[in-house]
Amino acid sequence: MRKQFPLFQTPIDLAHSYWQQCILPGDTVVDATAGNGHDSIVLANLALKNGTGTLHVIDIQKKALENTRDLINEHLDEDDRCNIHMHNSCHSQIDKIIEKNSAKLIVYNLGWLPGSDKKITTLSETTLNSVKASFELIMAGGVISITCYPGHPEGTIEEKKLLDLVRTLKADSWSVLYHRWENRSSSPSLILIQRSR
Ligand SMILES: C[S@@+](CC[C@H](N)C(=O)[O-])C[C@H]1O[C@@H](n2cnc3c(N)ncnc32)[C@H](O)[C@@H]1O
Repeated sequence: MRKQFPLFQTPIDLAHSYWQQCILPGDTVVDATAGNGHDSIVLANLALKNGTGTLHVIDIQKKALENTRDLINEHLDEDDRCNIHMHNSCHSQIDKIIEKNSAKLIVYNLGWLPGSDKKITTLSETTLNSVKASFELIMAGGVISITCYPGHPEGTIEEKKLLDLVRTLKADSWSVLYHRWENRSSSPSLILIQRSR
């Protein structure tokens, strides 16, 4: 399938291609749902260079942060690892972790920890609180990237509430894009929100 559609196969591929266009070495970036750390590695490779840049990694589950830490230790140099800060917290507390107007990119990859029992999934109330708080934390020109999974009941509610929220953002200050596959049932989707310069 990947050979058939080499441009992008999943919403994650799509998200990563936007992150590459947005992040410069030295930027402050945030992974608000660390999971197994795959997104964190992509973010670290884009933002951390020669001891500059900062990556904040947040997850409510200790196991997710351990998995992410293992992947980081495997893939990144010590110089870059120093600039990664792990937070075992609900992302609704993001405004206690990140300074206002400081983040170039804040990433949410919603749902549950892959390989886990699916009981701990992101919830619309805390996700919404976190995304609302992120509006204040993103710098001019920065982006919030949200991958949604409407194929399960909580994910459907979460995506709908997020879309209701982002559609209220004023077009002179925010650009909001929504991607989904129209020919795949219960397709994951990608919401991108950019703050104007
Ligand atoms: C789909 S996974 C993320 C995948 C990950 N970005 C990766 O590349 O492997 C979703 C993660 O969100 C975490 N999560 C769920 N609710 C959360 C919350 N309220 N605050 C922070 N993390 C949460 C879960 O523990 C899970 O690890």
